[in-house]
Amino acid sequence: MAYRYRSPLTRTDVTPKEIFMNRRQWMAGAGAVVGTGAALGSGLIGGPAHAQDALEPNSFEDITSYNNYYEFGTSKTDPSNYAHELTTDPWSIEIDGMVDNPGTYSLADLLDGQTIEERIYRFRCVEAWSMVVPWNGFELADLLTRVGVQDGAQYVAFETVYRPDEMPGQRRNILDWPYREGLRLDEAMHPLTLLATGLYGEPMPNQNGAPIRLVVPWKYGFKSIKSIVRISLVADQPETTWNMINAREYGFYSNVNPNVDHPRWSQATERRVGGGLFSSRQPTLMFNGYEDDVASMYEGMDLSEYY
Ligand code: MTE
Repeated sequence: MAYRYRSPLTRTDVTPKEIFMNRRQWMAGAGAVVGTGAALGSGLIGGPAHAQDALEPNSFEDITSYNNYYEFGTSKTDPSNYAHELTTDPWSIEIDGMVDNPGTYSLADLLDGQTIEERIYRFRCVEAWSMVVPWNGFELADLLTRVGVQDGAQYVAFETVYRPDEMPGQRRNILDWPYREGLRLDEAMHPLTLLATGLYGEPMPNQNGAPIRLVVPWKYGFKSIKSIVRISLVADQPETTWNMINAREYGFYSNVNPNVDHPRWSQATERRVGGGLFSSRQPTLMFNGYEDDVASMYEGMDLSEYY
């Protein structure tokens, strides 16, 4: 791996004092819940700070009560209403395909000895709303390196748990379950790509994808698949849920791009959730503000074709 992602800024550069005090409180809690919380509070900030976008995290309330998690229903409040029904402990992830050490790993084993970091990332949904989320997690690259990626693997495929007894949305024909997503191997190995196990120093709330979900901050939010039970290293581009439903509207790449509109709406601007009644929309940034970190992976690709 070329480098570990480090930003020169710390959260204290952008956060008012009263929020900084809150932050200290939840950091103290984080050590207790995460166990390997040593690296928490390193104050990492994802990407450059922009004048109009000081990466002030959304409130815990915003992040946990306005969700997309169709396994629990299609309204923004279904996940917070129903996700408590999902059992997240014990949990295991099957890792298969072109890896040296395939197997079914318990989450406890995967987290054993793994340092959990805080990453404050912009999060931009394809529906044109956004938030800033202080995730806790570790780089997917760490896990892939541990299991050993074999030559020939070019993509990583992910699957969400299928448990209709506990997930009311899965008892309906909303999507072709289980929810599936995928990344190209270089995207998966990129230091910004996170497996998140918590937010705000708390274990991951069920509605946000407990106990472990993907976070790919330069792509539309639907790529950030929740409650992962399977990770497969494969040679060919995998089928992914939204792309299978409508490839014209939801590309496999789905990099945030203000210049390529969704067929039914503009992607030039976004509404910051929790911004208040009178807050204006803000411009959407190329690659969601992570252009310097990720643009080189797409050199030579026509981004309006591979959207
Ligand atoms: N993962 C699963 N399994 N099911 C989903 O419905 N929704 C996606 C993504 N991951 C979704 C999912 C979409 S559209 C978005 S915008 C984000 O999760 C929302 O994440 P959040 O609720 O934590 O903000």
